[in-house]
Amino acid sequence: MDATVRAPVMARDHAPSLSVERVTDVTDEALAELCEAASAAIMDGGGFGWVKPQPRDVLARYWKGVLLVPERELFVAKLDGAIVGSAQLVRPPRNNEAQAFAATMMHFFIAPYARGFGLARLLISRVEEGARALGYKVLNLDVRETQTGAIALFESLGFVRWGTHPAYAQVNGRVIAGHFYHKLLEAKPARKPRA
Ligand SMILES: CC(C)(COP(=O)(O)OP(=O)(O)OC[C@H]1O[C@@H](n2cnc3c(N)ncnc32)[C@H](O)[C@@H]1OP(=O)(O)O)[C@@H](O)C(=O)NCCC(=O)NCCS
Repeated sequence: MDATVRAPVMARDHAPSLSVERVTDVTDEALAELCEAASAAIMDGGGFGWVKPQPRDVLARYWKGVLLVPERELFVAKLDGAIVGSAQLVRPPRNNEAQAFAATMMHFFIAPYARGFGLARLLISRVEEGARALGYKVLNLDVRETQTGAIALFESLGFVRWGTHPAYAQVNGRVIAGHFYHKLLEAKPARKPRA
């Protein structure tokens, strides 16, 4: 979401049910929900790389493709049982022994109609747990400088900005900078007290 505006929380007659799952296969219904959520996020300007609205069949092929990539784990966020957002945990390629301890969170979004319920916070914590469970010590991510809501959230969760790419993305002809973050997933070992 460029020039982020905080989403109004819709009035509801019940407390929302929030959940996050890692998925390895999708039903037709889940695929339709993923496509709907991605479409809404793209239209809103936070379409994890996509700038223009995409036909439904293109989105459906994209999600099916994600599930086929061995290095990617797809996490979905659900509001009252329906998928409304997602994130991908991306493992380094096998040849990259030097960076085998670091994973990347990519393509993180919550559809505009499901924002403000705490799902983004829950989704990030589950991706972090997933990375820890796989033995990763570092979680990396990058984000357009215009995604101010996401930036505030990442920083509140302990992600540390280590750099800025001045020509990170191009949206509607405008070049936009992007920020790069990392988070150490393991607590540093306590220092030995001085004798
Ligand atoms: C940023 C985004 C993920 C937030 O999703 P969300 O489900 O509404 O977030 P949550 O309800 O979990 O809120 C988490 C925290 O972020 C804060 N927050 C959310 N949107 C915000 C905004 N626009 N400005 C400032 N803070 C914001 C909330 O106040 C909340 O803080 P709190 O827990 O201290 O109260 C969502 O707006 C989004 O998908 N944006 C577009 C895509 C994007 O920017 N992706 C990141 C690219 S890597």
